[in-house]
Amino acid sequence: MLDTVSKELALFWQQIEQRSQFHAGYPYNLNCDYTHIGKFFNFLLNNAGDPYVEPDFGLHSRKFEQEVLSFFAELYKIPENEFWGYVTAGGTEGNLYGILLAREIYPNGILYSSQDSHYSIAKAARLFGIQHQVINSQANGEMNYEHLSQVIRQNSQQPVIINLNIGTTVKGAIDDLDKVLEILTRHQIKDYYIHCDAALSGMILPFLDGAPQVNFQKPIDSVAISGKFIGSPLPCGVVLTKKKWVEKVETMIEYIGSKDTTILGSRNGHTPLIIWYALQTRGYEGFAKEAKTCIQNAQYLFQQLKLREYPCMLNKFSNTVVFQKPCQKLIKKWQLATQGNWAHIIVMQNIDRQKIDTFVNELVLQEGLMPESEYLHLQPALT
Ligand SMILES: Cc1ncc(COP(=O)(O)O)c(C=O)c1O
Repeated sequence: MLDTVSKELALFWQQIEQRSQFHAGYPYNLNCDYTHIGKFFNFLLNNAGDPYVEPDFGLHSRKFEQEVLSFFAELYKIPENEFWGYVTAGGTEGNLYGILLAREIYPNGILYSSQDSHYSIAKAARLFGIQHQVINSQANGEMNYEHLSQVIRQNSQQPVIINLNIGTTVKGAIDDLDKVLEILTRHQIKDYYIHCDAALSGMILPFLDGAPQVNFQKPIDSVAISGKFIGSPLPCGVVLTKKKWVEKVETMIEYIGSKDTTILGSRNGHTPLIIWYALQTRGYEGFAKEAKTCIQNAQYLFQQLKLREYPCMLNKFSNTVVFQKPCQKLIKKWQLATQGNWAHIIVMQNIDRQKIDTFVNELVLQEGLMPESEYLHLQPALT
């Protein structure tokens, strides 16, 4: 019996290890080592309830969750006494939470989100019964501001709930907060709530010189960030918002000895520990270096494709390289994400230049692109 279990596990280990080597289409940092905190996985850790209310139940990691939240509060420039947040099960839960708060504050508000928004935004509208207006996107995946302005003008009697994409799922596009704020001012909208879906770029943009800075120094109301860039063996994320908004929705639950302020009841107590460990060991400087390297490597991949005249696109400050969908063999091998005629590689920490070169060489072979000897003379132009 034990022998069969061991065999099955060994086989699964092999499969996962192999699949991790060739994983390029989805935004997961696979360069992680959490061996040091592995021993905690033999304990139950449940952070049920509010991260700031100490329950009688002792098997939780609130101390670590609070420290993680303080890091993000500083990164997103919101004072300690004004913010609230929690470690979520991922970007989706953060989005659901932000939109739920918006609905609680503006029950008759309309949710506006672009065509390129993640499907969790439309799901939030359905779950919470919110009127939802989809805004057209531009070719690069960014919101079409003229269309937004037009529909807000038509509905100017109702509060506005905006989902702002800080890095879209497929094209890595960033919606322009300043343009959206200008539209709200132009139409004299006083009641509005801005939720930022910063699932991936939320841990990249704050570290890049010259990148658009989306934080609480501007009138945003919540931000959802996924744990994908940090890298975690368990899906997770962080949501941040203003304390005053959460105070509007909280209720005390005697049974758990805590406040019911989160979407889920039981909450993973290991993920705060994982994020805390990542922040402690890599620090602000470590993440800044990783973010810059990923962006540079994405530019490198983009240049390699352009050089071979392979149709491709890369948004500014993005690590998502979009290109014409290649053959199924490559899609399967590299686990590329596809949509219509397009595929993408998200250049995470585990996609280094060597891997990029391997992928490009295979693409050249499979798609019959220009051989190396014919483009080498063009190399000096690309730095
Ligand atoms: C823009 C965006 N928002 C939200 C999500 C959902 O995040 P998660 O998978 O962590 O729930 C994703 C996932 O890729 C995403 O790309």
